[in-house]
Amino acid sequence: MAYSVHPSIFLLLFLLHFGCQATPSSPHHHHHHQELKSLHFSLFQHETINKTGYIIVNGVAGEGVTQTTTPFGTIFAFQDPMTTTPNASSRVAGIAEGASITSSLDGLRSISMAKITLNLKGYKGSISVLGGTHNIKPSNHPVVGGTGDFMFIQGYVRSSPVNLEGITVVYKIEFHLYWPPYAVHA
Ligand SMILES: *[C@@H]1O[C@H](CO)[C@@H](O)[C@H](O)[C@H]1NC(C)=O
Ligand SMILES: *[C@@H]1O[C@H](CO)[C@@H](O)[C@H](O)[C@H]1NC(C)=O
Repeated sequence: MAYSVHPSIFLLLFLLHFGCQATPSSPHHHHHHQELKSLHFSLFQHETINKTGYIIVNGVAGEGVTQTTTPFGTIFAFQDPMTTTPNASSRVAGIAEGASITSSLDGLRSISMAKITLNLKGYKGSISVLGGTHNIKPSNHPVVGGTGDFMFIQGYVRSSPVNLEGITVVYKIEFHLYWPPYAVHA
């Protein structure tokens, strides 16, 4: 096999390719490389206060606890089901486990971290996301990595409120996942 005979050449080609990918480019530019593999889909996250999500540490300042705000410094932990449609009775295809810390004095923004375990047709594993969330506006969270079929994954998830009324709030989570070339070869 050529690759096993010349591993250093293969490594060099890989490094050249990776270096090229890391070069800044315009936001809408896509590398149409044969090895670029991506996956785009949406799930709906259901969070029920005092059932799938809890305030663990009370905040200290700013807005009080309302449907859409929490005091600055509030630490909230969750384990939320993610379904294939906005209907909570639809198939659970993911579980989001994580925590958020209220990071703005108006009580609307937080820093969130989550591990999302996914059970999709043909793909099993988890992705980890980290970023800022706005309680009433869409926000993008960078994907920092993954496990299983999502090992080495890159991309982002976009979280948008669907229903903020009642004790269960629903968010649409759009996944935009990209495997780097070295993950496709692994
Ligand atoms: C959730 O539980 C806390 C602590 O018991 C309570 O203060 C709060 O009112 C509850 N929230 C709702 C919406 O039930
Ligand atoms: C949600 O799905 C269940 C079970 O399929 C169905 O009975 C119910 O009417 C649906 N609810 C809505 C709001 O569509």
